[in-house]
Amino acid sequence: MSFTIAIDGPAAAGKGTISRAVAAHFGFAHLDTGLLYRAVGAEMLAGTEPVAAARALRAEDLDAAALRSPEVAQAASKVAAIGDVRAALVDFQRAFAARAGGAVLDGRDIGTVICPDAAAKLFVTASAEVRAERRYRELLEAGADTNFAAVLADVRERDARDMGRVDAPLRAAADAVELDTSAMDIDEAVAAAIAVVETAMERGTG
Ligand code: CDP
Ligand code: CDP
Repeated sequence: MSFTIAIDGPAAAGKGTISRAVAAHFGFAHLDTGLLYRAVGAEMLAGTEPVAAARALRAEDLDAAALRSPEVAQAASKVAAIGDVRAALVDFQRAFAARAGGAVLDGRDIGTVICPDAAAKLFVTASAEVRAERRYRELLEAGADTNFAAVLADVRERDARDMGRVDAPLRAAADAVELDTSAMDIDEAVAAAIAVVETAMERGTG
């Protein structure tokens, strides 16, 4: 039997960090679905038509540190507004979610569109300033030449585009548990997420 955990939220809310830790805790597989859109965005920047790039995407294309740049993030959010790009990526995500042994998927539309029947759903948020600060530190550590104002503008622009699009806009599923991590460190956020999943597991078996 599969047990799917959906973790959605805006940019740099901590979805990836929480998802990896939750997956490790329960021994589940993890898919960062943002990488799919980042890979298509990178292809678009390299001159490939995005729908064709999405249809040709393979799992091997997802493992590049180059996909973490702010330029690729912006391109990802642009291609993510194209309905045919999203449609081309649905089967891969659903197959991953259905794998035996359990799966954690994080993104924007996992609880609403990709896995509406997920056993546990979390919507991870934090203020835009806190999220931009976290992403800024991450970029500095990676050696990027950037500044806080640019990172904050990038985060806000992407959130607005992701929330405003017609197809699978970023929003919390009605049955998602909201986790505001603005005042939480990573350990606290992970513990809170694990508690939500455990409650869902008890509900499932009880
Ligand atoms: O996946 P998403 O873009 O939502 O966020 P992330 O990559 O998991 O986290 C962005 C950054 O915030 C990372 O450097 C995390 O270590 C950090 N973070 C944090 O400082 N406190 C948290 N409660 C969660 C994440
Ligand atoms: O790590 P961060 O939260 O900054 O971004 P990401 O999760 O890697 O996602 C990059 C972009 O892909 C987002 O801004 C969305 O436009 C798009 N995306 C999406 O539309 N649906 C998903 N399930 C995941 C990402």
